[in-house]
Amino acid sequence: MGVEIRVEGLTKSFGRQVIWEDVTLTLPAGEISVLLGPSGTGKSVFLKTMVGLLKPDRGHCWIDGKDMPNLRERDMYEVRKLFGVLFQDGALFGSMNLYDNIAFPLREHTRKSESEVRRIVLEKMEMVGLGGAQNKFPGEISGGMRKRAGLARALVLDPQIILCDEPDSGLDPVRTVLLNQLIVDLNAEIEATILIVTHDINTARTVPDNIGMLFRRELVMFGPREMLLSSEEPVVRQFLNARKVGPIGMSEEKDLSELEAEARLGRDPGPLPPIPPQLMTSDGRLRRTQHAPGEWLRTHGVTPPEGSFIDEMGRDWLQEWPKYVAEMSAGAGRHSEGAH
Ligand SMILES: Nc1ncnc2c1ncn2[C@@H]1O[C@H](COP(=O)(O)OP(=O)(O)OP(=O)(O)O)[C@@H](O)[C@H]1O
Ligand SMILES: [Mg+2]
Repeated sequence: MGVEIRVEGLTKSFGRQVIWEDVTLTLPAGEISVLLGPSGTGKSVFLKTMVGLLKPDRGHCWIDGKDMPNLRERDMYEVRKLFGVLFQDGALFGSMNLYDNIAFPLREHTRKSESEVRRIVLEKMEMVGLGGAQNKFPGEISGGMRKRAGLARALVLDPQIILCDEPDSGLDPVRTVLLNQLIVDLNAEIEATILIVTHDINTARTVPDNIGMLFRRELVMFGPREMLLSSEEPVVRQFLNARKVGPIGMSEEKDLSELEAEARLGRDPGPLPPIPPQLMTSDGRLRRTQHAPGEWLRTHGVTPPEGSFIDEMGRDWLQEWPKYVAEMSAGAGRHSEGAH
C-alpha cells in the first residue's frame, strides 16, 4: 500500500538563486501524480529534495509521520527504503552490467539469496522489455534502454513510493504509451504512490489522478487531473495544450518583445480541447484509487468541453462508467468465489 506524502512550505535555493518557494501539496496515498513545468524550473531538484538528497532551506516533507528533510542521516536511510527512484539520467553504474545495476538495491538493502535476487531482477527486466540484455553495459545500449533499466532498478524493492524523472524522454511514441500502461498496471498491482515528471502532454493528460505545475519559482497549481485539464489559468492552459500563446517563452518567461508581438497577433489561446478519458489498466480491473470520469467536474459544477471522455473507439465514458463498474465488480466477485 502506498503512503501519503505531505509537502509543506518547501523552499529551495542554491546560493542566491531561489529555485522554488513555499511549495505545498499532498500526494494522496496510492494515487498517480504528474509534475510539469518548463525546463529548469526545478522539477528534478524537487524529486531529489523529497528523497533527502538535497536539503531544502525550509519546509517539510512528511512521509509516514516522518519529516524527511529534517531527519538524521540514519533515519533518512530507513525512510529511503520506501522509495524507488528513476533519476533523469538513469544514474546507472557504468562499470556494471545491467544485471548487477538492477540487482544493486537488493544486495545493498536486503539479505536475499542470489537465486532470489536473480528471480526478481529477471522478472523486472522482462517487465520493462529488457529480457536478454543482462550482460550489456550502460555504455552499450540506447538512451531509451538505459531509462528502462533505471526503472527496473527503481522497482526491485517493491517500493511504496515511486518517483520517475522523465521516464519517457528518449522513448519512441509506442514505447511511451506502453510505459504509461506499465505504470498504470503497476499502480493497480502494488498500489504505490507515484510521482512522474514528464514533458509528454499525452502522458500528463491521460495517466495521472493529479497534476501539478511549477513555474516562476512556485507551484502554480496542484490538484485532480480534471481540475487542471479544465483550468483557465494561462500557464497551465498553455502547457497542457502545448500552445505558443501564453506566459511561457523559450527562456521560461517571455520577454517584452515576445509579449508585444503576441499582443499584436492576438492572445486568444483558443477553446479548451476535450478532456480525454483516463488510461485504464490493461486487464480492465479498477485501481483502488480509481476516480469516476467527470467526478471532479460534476462536484465543482464545471461543464467539460464538447467531446470530453470519448475514447478512440467512440465510447462515451460518462455513459459507460456505471455499467463498466457493475460488470467489473461482478467479475471480481466471481473471481474471488472461484478462489475460495
Ligand atoms: N546541485 C546544484 N547546484 C546548483 N544549482 C543547481 C543544482 N542542481 C540544479 N541546479 C539548478 O536548479 C535549477 C533547476 O534545475 P532542475 O534540474 O531541477 O530543472 P528541471 O525542472 O528538472 O529541468 P528539465 O526539465 O530540463 O529537466 C537549474 O537552474 C539548475 O541549474
Ligand atoms: Mg529535470
